[in-house]
Amino acid sequence: MPVDNSFVLSTERINLRKMNNNDVGNLMEIFSDPVAMEYYPSTKDEQETKKWIDWTISNYANFGSGLWIVEEKETGEFLGQCGIVLQKVDGVVEMEIGYLFARRVWGNGYATEAALACKKYGFEELGLTRMISLIDINNVPSIKVAERIGMKWEKRINKWGKDIDVYSVSL
Ligand SMILES: CC(C)(COP(=O)(O)OP(=O)(O)OC[C@H]1O[C@@H](n2cnc3c(N)ncnc32)[C@H](O)[C@@H]1OP(=O)(O)O)[C@@H](O)C(=O)NCCC(=O)NCCS
Repeated sequence: MPVDNSFVLSTERINLRKMNNNDVGNLMEIFSDPVAMEYYPSTKDEQETKKWIDWTISNYANFGSGLWIVEEKETGEFLGQCGIVLQKVDGVVEMEIGYLFARRVWGNGYATEAALACKKYGFEELGLTRMISLIDINNVPSIKVAERIGMKWEKRINKWGKDIDVYSVSL
């Protein structure tokens, strides 16, 4: 199948495009980094990364969204992934803004810029009225991104066998 390289979203500094099977190397930069994966169950190997891509591509088909690849606009350099994915919270289906960036680009505001664009897309293009982020209670950089895009702390739940804070924003 030909690769779709068209952009889903663009902002001042970044483009977001659909993930494809050629992104294994890009994603492995994040998934093989124990620091970036500190709040996930483990790092991911190549096989698990391929499964992640398959899951993401099925999300595009099923929900019209998923995690997108974030690239620097001027250079096309891979920065990370950000998008909107389905999550179940206390038995209720919610749409989550998720973001994972390569450690070499942390501290530049790219995650906030991408997450803001996804929030706008969720409200304006997908017709959502509410979005959440599920964040490990110790993941301060992630909490800061959620707050910078206008999310507020809502509640603490137990998910994935640990305490998770639910941040949310509504129209
Ligand atoms: C969560 C994560 C994406 C946050 O990354 P980040 O680089 O801290 O977030 P941003 O891209 O929004 O950058 C914000 C920082 O850049 C700084 N910054 C520098 N230039 C900036 C600019 N032009 N515009 C905005 N912010 C800028 C901000 O001051 C801020 O610094 P601070 O945190 O010291 O206050 C990153 O830690 C990550 O990928 N972690 C691993 C995966 C993960 O845990 N994901 C979350 C799961 S819930």
